[in-house]
Amino acid sequence: MSPTRRLPIGVMISGRGSNLQALIDACAEPAYPARIALVVSNVAAARGLERARAAGIATRILPHRDFATRAAFDAAVTAAFEDAGVEIICMAGFMRLVTPEFVARWHDRLLNIHPSLLPAFRGLDTHARALAAGVKVHGCTVHLVRSELDTGPILGQAAVPVLPADTPERLAARVLAAEHRLYPHCLRLFIEGRIRVAGEVVEIDSDVETVPTDRCLINPPLPKP
Ligand code: GAR
Repeated sequence: MSPTRRLPIGVMISGRGSNLQALIDACAEPAYPARIALVVSNVAAARGLERARAAGIATRILPHRDFATRAAFDAAVTAAFEDAGVEIICMAGFMRLVTPEFVARWHDRLLNIHPSLLPAFRGLDTHARALAAGVKVHGCTVHLVRSELDTGPILGQAAVPVLPADTPERLAARVLAAEHRLYPHCLRLFIEGRIRVAGEVVEIDSDVETVPTDRCLINPPLPKP
């Protein structure tokens, strides 16, 4: 059997890096179709950098304040990833807006994970806003990045219940656990061409297992039979 070609990917972080860790762990599986060629952080103290170093992954710190313009910062990020041979970029808790030029350079090669069921709750403080809105189901989304914030073709979503005793922190923890499962899964399917994007439309291959149509997250739950 020929060894799996591992697509070189780049990861952009700003902080804790728990989604980066989920990607590192996935890439440690022999059959996973990606390897992380470079992690870029705009924050020197980001904990995710330690995770990358511990896994032997190359890192670059590009403090955004060192750049006169957003465009100059984005160009430096692109150059770093190009030097590393990166073909796909995953934003994983990268907390800066990127320019339309950056989005265009990485068109359909730039993924993001967002802590809500888009298009609901774009932007920041998604968990507090979900609680304030009284939604009963919340979650996370992996999508391709377009110029407008938190928009773009949706590759996959994971839903979790909102519970009566939830605080933003408790809800965030439940969503984060779902993020760690969703991101490596979507990235794999995308690299394998089993989730494809045609224009703004996402097609999922017929060989990808479908959710049974009787499986439904109802919250509050129905009584047990
Ligand atoms: C994650 O919840 C991610 O979805 C979110 O930041 C967190 C980063 O955590 N991203 C955004 O809000 C992007 N707008 P992590 O650093 O532990 O992966």
